[in-house]
Amino acid sequence: MALLDVENVDTFYGQSQALHDVSLSVEQGEVVTLLGRNGAGKTTTLRTVAGITPPRSGTIRYDGEDITGESTYKIIQRGLGYVPEDRQVWPQLTVAENLEVPAGRGGDWTVDDAYDLFPKLHDLSNAQAGDLSGGEQQMLVIARGLLGGTRLLLLDEPSEGLAPQIVADVRDAILELKDDLTIVLVEQNVRLALDVADRVYVLANGRVVHEDDAEGLTPDDPTLREHVAV
Ligand SMILES: Nc1ncnc2c1ncn2[C@@H]1O[C@H](COP(=O)(O)OP(=O)(O)O)[C@@H](O)[C@H]1O
Ligand SMILES: [Mg+2]
Repeated sequence: MALLDVENVDTFYGQSQALHDVSLSVEQGEVVTLLGRNGAGKTTTLRTVAGITPPRSGTIRYDGEDITGESTYKIIQRGLGYVPEDRQVWPQLTVAENLEVPAGRGGDWTVDDAYDLFPKLHDLSNAQAGDLSGGEQQMLVIARGLLGGTRLLLLDEPSEGLAPQIVADVRDAILELKDDLTIVLVEQNVRLALDVADRVYVLANGRVVHEDDAEGLTPDDPTLREHVAV
């Protein structure tokens, strides 16, 4: 049984339909990447799973249970971690405090595990989160997304706008997390996406237009070239 099943989902912003009959499934332990151009519906897909923009029709099943229409609060309590693309740290809190808040909700991951994953955060533990660089803030929001009992992590464009060395750190962290977590990753960086993913879904105009195993796929695959900015 898949950990996450999205079935025939239609999602709207007011009158405007952003997702059309989107279906995808994620097995326990998989890293699944959503690829597609700006506006393709990748973020909306994550928001729909997280209950932020609930679907008008279709079903979302998590761990065998129908969670369609549940509040984001309840969905997160079920073990879903959502790291949106805007990197919202709690700027007035220290790095350590940003991690201690979700760690207080329980779960297997500890603040020390987060520091093992991103040693840089350990060095910065007493710094105010608002003073961190973009790359450091990205590490912090990923680390925060793991704490509090997360089993399924939704990551929206973690590499966007980061220097190559930080992108490499983020890639290594995702590879390290692969053993313990199930991940849905939105990425425009096709090379990074193919490096870490087991399977990919390609979205265009709010529809799933392609699904494939990541192994053997290259950035110059014709389908990827057609639907993803390479
Ligand atoms: N808050 C919003 N209100 C209205 N339309 C939105 C909103 N957010 C996204 N959209 C529209 O929904 C579609 C999908 O957007 P999005 O999911 O953000 O795409 P992606 O993440 O692939 O770039 C786009 O046409 C976009 O303009
Ligand atoms: Mg997006």
